Amino acid sequence: MNAMDTAQLDMRARTILTDNDRGGYTVPTAGLYPYQWNWDSAFAALGFASFDRDRAWRELETLMAGQWDDGMVPHIQFHVPDPGYFPGPDIWQGRGPVPSSGITQPPVAATVVRRLFDRDPVAGRDRAAALYPKLLAWHRWFMDWRCDRGRVFVTHPWEAGRDNAPDWDSAMAAIDPAGVMDYHRRDTDHVDASMRPTRADYDRYVWLLQYGRDTGWDPARIAAKGPFRVADPGQQFILLRAMRDLAALGTALGEETAGVAGWITALEAGAAALWNPDLAAFDACDLTTGVRAGALTNASFLCWYAGIDRSEMRAHLARICDALPFCLPSLDPADPRYEPKRYWRGPVWAVMNLMAGNGMAEMGLTAAAETLRTRTADLIAEHGFAEYFDPETGAPAGGAHFTWTAAVWLAWASPSAKG
Ligand code: DGY
Repeated sequence: MNAMDTAQLDMRARTILTDNDRGGYTVPTAGLYPYQWNWDSAFAALGFASFDRDRAWRELETLMAGQWDDGMVPHIQFHVPDPGYFPGPDIWQGRGPVPSSGITQPPVAATVVRRLFDRDPVAGRDRAAALYPKLLAWHRWFMDWRCDRGRVFVTHPWEAGRDNAPDWDSAMAAIDPAGVMDYHRRDTDHVDASMRPTRADYDRYVWLLQYGRDTGWDPARIAAKGPFRVADPGQQFILLRAMRDLAALGTALGEETAGVAGWITALEAGAAALWNPDLAAFDACDLTTGVRAGALTNASFLCWYAGIDRSEMRAHLARICDALPFCLPSLDPADPRYEPKRYWRGPVWAVMNLMAGNGMAEMGLTAAAETLRTRTADLIAEHGFAEYFDPETGAPAGGAHFTWTAAVWLAWASPSAKG
């Protein structure tokens, strides 16, 4: 890639962020995802930070302004109604200050707040200090309602952000979606059905939504008796990382962080419990049945992002990156469930690469991290700012003009990125 290409791609990425800006928050892409999504927004802030720091802070402030009284930060905030998306605010009936869904999403925000603060500790101090108690309350909510002996679990596949990953197969198969409402999927009006979750998946997504809504989104009931409680390596590693960043931020701001340190210890123990010796990797665990997913996914490769190294994970990384032109696939291609175009059952997702790559670099896997970064850059340069990509051909899939792929380009993959 020459300097001219880089400058053009940087400009295109910035244009995507500004096109998807709805004034204080960013949509992932028009049409398919017309609202503010939680972790998408955190990555958007990282992208904005490369050219507009004020706008980066605003993205996070808008996200945290949707926080519920109990500390939960919802996975979707429905600022402006859009009939092109299902399920919308009338179906979810969230109970926060902004119309919202009733579940959360991977807590990337504290990590991004720390990054913005570290780059600009003087100008960013007041904004970081205002966000700190909100982030703390959200992390406490995770520890209270989404944590089983240190293992972080999700109560809906959408909460993990990896909707149709094989991690949920056994828990999903156990659900009989009898009584699911009549509904019309809108996602397949926008993109090819072969790249999206199946109808059987959707029936269960909607059925689980109805279950949570009928409890009034009662976190205690959902945590204790809910029909879907799966410990997720993605959520585990992202929360553990975010907790470490929150502790560092709190210390820099002069806050007392002993409580956060205790949570880190608990999450480290939980991460160790997600090691599956039969797979020689971290994987998901259905907490109701104890059944392991037996799936090596790109979430497993977030271990380094959480500060955890295992030689077996390095070996898997080398094997998979040798086998495919584009990494990291969302599922090991040796797994019979692997489908290179279907959402979280094979495709490459740039945000997962950014987190995994940052973690690898921090843990001393310098060459592997650099290979991942340059291959992600080539993927985006050759195939565009797609939602996700086929790991075998690089073909773009899902939505186009995608916020988080543009953000990953600006913050990490581009040769001009400052990290
Ligand atoms: C969707 O609508 O596909 C989302 O992933 C739900 O968050």
